[in-house]
Amino acid sequence: MNLGGTIRLNPLGVCVLIGGCVLIFVYMNFWTSDDISREVSPPDEISLKKLLGVAINAAVLGGEEVRRVNGLENLNQRSKGKTDEGANDPVTDADFLSHCVMLQTLTRAFPNIKIISEEKPRKKCEEAPSVVFDENQLVESYSEIEDMTVKPEDVTVWIDPLDATQEFIEKLLQYVTTMVCVAVKGLPTIGVIHQPFKESKTYWAWVGHSKSPSVKSQVSPQRNIIVSRSHAGEVKNISQIAFGSDIDVTSAGGAGYKVLEVINGNASAYVHVTAIKKWDICAGDALLRSVGGNMTKIDGHELDYSAKSSQFNRGGLIATLQDHLWFIERLQKFYSNEKLSS
Ligand SMILES: *[C@@H]1O[C@H](CO)[C@@H](O)[C@H](O)[C@H]1NC(C)=O
Ligand SMILES: *[C@@H]1O[C@H](CO)[C@@H](O)[C@H](O)[C@H]1NC(C)=O
Ligand SMILES: *[C@@H]1O[C@H](CO)[C@@H](O)[C@H](O)[C@H]1NC(C)=O
Repeated sequence: MNLGGTIRLNPLGVCVLIGGCVLIFVYMNFWTSDDISREVSPPDEISLKKLLGVAINAAVLGGEEVRRVNGLENLNQRSKGKTDEGANDPVTDADFLSHCVMLQTLTRAFPNIKIISEEKPRKKCEEAPSVVFDENQLVESYSEIEDMTVKPEDVTVWIDPLDATQEFIEKLLQYVTTMVCVAVKGLPTIGVIHQPFKESKTYWAWVGHSKSPSVKSQVSPQRNIIVSRSHAGEVKNISQIAFGSDIDVTSAGGAGYKVLEVINGNASAYVHVTAIKKWDICAGDALLRSVGGNMTKIDGHELDYSAKSSQFNRGGLIATLQDHLWFIERLQKFYSNEKLSS
């Protein structure tokens, strides 16, 4: 036995061995650092806190465009056709300019989320004035709110660049709003309703997290309902049959405005019986939820605001702060009686 034998090193073997080690080291190192960077910053999770700030700004900046056009000689109004109610569906330069500013504001901060707007402008939005603001500063001003992130594919943003265009043209400016709504998995989660006229007020809420001091809910002292100006006669009749002849019915422009009237105690229910678009109601739905109110179709079901859902709600609408079932049951009875008698 030769216990003291020497190991003979083959120079080629040593090279292969060292080279192999280096390769493994480099490979492991890159692999690990790549893994770590992925953990530290998930590629495209959406911060809802930042989205809240950007949504508020989008609504306010859109409102500034609406005010600017209102000051011009010519609103450049034209018709988009007829609404489902058979009324003229007008549009002005204010609708388009507000749309562009709101869309740009949101897409610049969140290029990878789905945004659905009432307007699809003829002119490209690149031609619209671009407004610059610092998104990081926004996050600072909401620093007391705890953040939450969601997947971009779960987010749908609904924007209404100018709610109550007909009233805007008629200079009934108290009804005019700009709105942004963030739905997460179809649920209304963040709602912003901005009133550019009067004293210019912004109402916002992140359901279950925070809301603006302007959102102060108060239950209406008597049972009264608020309905759309464009088909007030018909709903007045329906309401007096469904809820009793002594119920007070007022009409107003703008779905955003009507929801605010329910929240601030000027109306106990907002009732709508014809088709309505989701960008008209999503922000109000979120605001109502944030104060414990309800918005449903007449059959009592909640609305789905996911991108794959229809942009129309054809199931009618009831929005209340309290006694939701009382309104639903009576309106449902009216509709089932109608069906029986026709
Ligand atoms: C409402 O009812 C009144 C009286 O019953 C009727 O004259 C009127 O045509 C109705 N209006 C609508 C819009 O249905
Ligand atoms: C009800 O509406 C009037 C104007 O129409 C307004 O002055 C008043 O503040 C509103 N009430 C509440 C509780 O907001
Ligand atoms: C109204 O909303 C509350 C809280 O979101 C919910 O618990 C309740 O079931 C809703 N009521 C109706 C009638 O939809």
